[in-house]
Amino acid sequence: AWAQNVVKFTAGPDTIVINKHIYGHFAEHLGRCIYDGLYVGEDNKTLANTDGVRNDVIAALKNLHIPNLRWPGGCFADTYHWKDGIGPKDKRPSIVNTWWGGVTENNSFGTHDFLNLCERLGAEPYLAGNVGSGEVQELADWVQYVNFDGKSPMSDLRRTNGREKPWKVKFWGVGNEAWGCGGNMTPDYYADVYRRYATFMADNGVGLFRIASGANSADYNWTETLMKKIPHGLIQGIALHHYAVINWGKKGSSTMYTDEEYFKTMQSAWFMNELVEKHAAIMDKYDPEKKIALVVDEWGGWYDVEPGTNPGFLYQQNTMRDAVLAGMTLNIFNNHADRVRMANLAQTVNVLQAVILTEGDKMLMTPTYHVLEMYKIHQDAKLIPIQLTSNDLTFGQEKIPAVSAAASITTNGKTHVSLVNIDPKKEQKITIDLADKRYGTVHGRLLTSKKLRDFNSFEKPAYIKPREFNEAQLKGNQLSLNLPPFSVVVLTLE
Ligand code: AHR
Repeated sequence: AWAQNVVKFTAGPDTIVINKHIYGHFAEHLGRCIYDGLYVGEDNKTLANTDGVRNDVIAALKNLHIPNLRWPGGCFADTYHWKDGIGPKDKRPSIVNTWWGGVTENNSFGTHDFLNLCERLGAEPYLAGNVGSGEVQELADWVQYVNFDGKSPMSDLRRTNGREKPWKVKFWGVGNEAWGCGGNMTPDYYADVYRRYATFMADNGVGLFRIASGANSADYNWTETLMKKIPHGLIQGIALHHYAVINWGKKGSSTMYTDEEYFKTMQSAWFMNELVEKHAAIMDKYDPEKKIALVVDEWGGWYDVEPGTNPGFLYQQNTMRDAVLAGMTLNIFNNHADRVRMANLAQTVNVLQAVILTEGDKMLMTPTYHVLEMYKIHQDAKLIPIQLTSNDLTFGQEKIPAVSAAASITTNGKTHVSLVNIDPKKEQKITIDLADKRYGTVHGRLLTSKKLRDFNSFEKPAYIKPREFNEAQLKGNQLSLNLPPFSVVVLTLE
């Protein structure tokens, strides 16, 4: 017999909202994410598209209610000169995408294409500015081009290119991975650079949300230096990047992983919990009122590319390992919603832990997609703080919690609980203590599959998909259920 896992609703603060921007996505000019994945060109007669963007992908993304989309990188952002991507497409210069496969980029998907796509998706754009190889003026001009309503050199240029009204872009990244591909800077040097660039980004009444390039995983000194050196009036968010990786030199297959590789991926993903707590504790020292957000603008599982594909394109499959990884990570973000107010899964289509994969005219939604779709109920809902006692998942001497959970209540009074069991073999018996809350009904949705290593293929694109889950039992203020091995469940209580 196995022990019992207990989720207890607590009487903690009930003022924290799970910011919908935790559910953000990321689309870089990398491999087949933008070209082929999203954008197939206005002249494409075989694939149904709107302004060159695949209609099937637009529909799938709309169904996720994606709150924000980060673009154009990533490492690519610090090589990107936005003026190359505006105006008549046949006049745009080509550049070489030096970070990702050394391919030629023709700039046919640029600022207008991206911002119009965001409007169509109902997502807020999150533009990553070029700080590594671009000038202060170039970033200041970009802000004016997309945000200025009146008459100015840049807003006139925007109008010449067919857009009268500004898009009013709020979210701006001031560089990306400044400690690495964004310029190999020290934190002290970057803090000064940040101050300069941020100063010249005019607000224009938009309420700019400027996000500093953040730490690489556990580089706590990076966060500390930025919090200390950047005047708080100049910064609204600090980023953090952490990928679930077994070993950067030998990342392992996305589908044919060993039990040990599975455990190590989960261990690396669970490390996110410690990361957000430690980075948040540093931020608390300098910003006790929590005005500055921790923005985890790159997260997800990173494996070897699929055999036979371009190593620079980072194309990987997506199994139930990715589904439980996503569910667990989002539970971590939800439970730290007081400080983690934005995050971006890397990446949207055909790259890393993608929600969508495409092949010619075929498209599929990955298990990760379904988790994001199931969890959309948490967006902008009020967090219900919980205490969780979980069994361990062990491998040799190592252990991590097998169960993770998060709870929230919507403005119309529906309570949702998301639960994940990462144990690949054992089901987990769960008791949820609802404290003083009373409900009449419970129903739910479950995502799992026959085998942990199952995935959706172009031959069987809907092999893994959520199904109804009506096995939770409600008695008074106690809810009990069994979570199958490697599964994600979202319950609705009314
Ligand atoms: O998401 C892929 C890459 O990972 C991004 O371009 C970079 O920021 C990170 O190193």
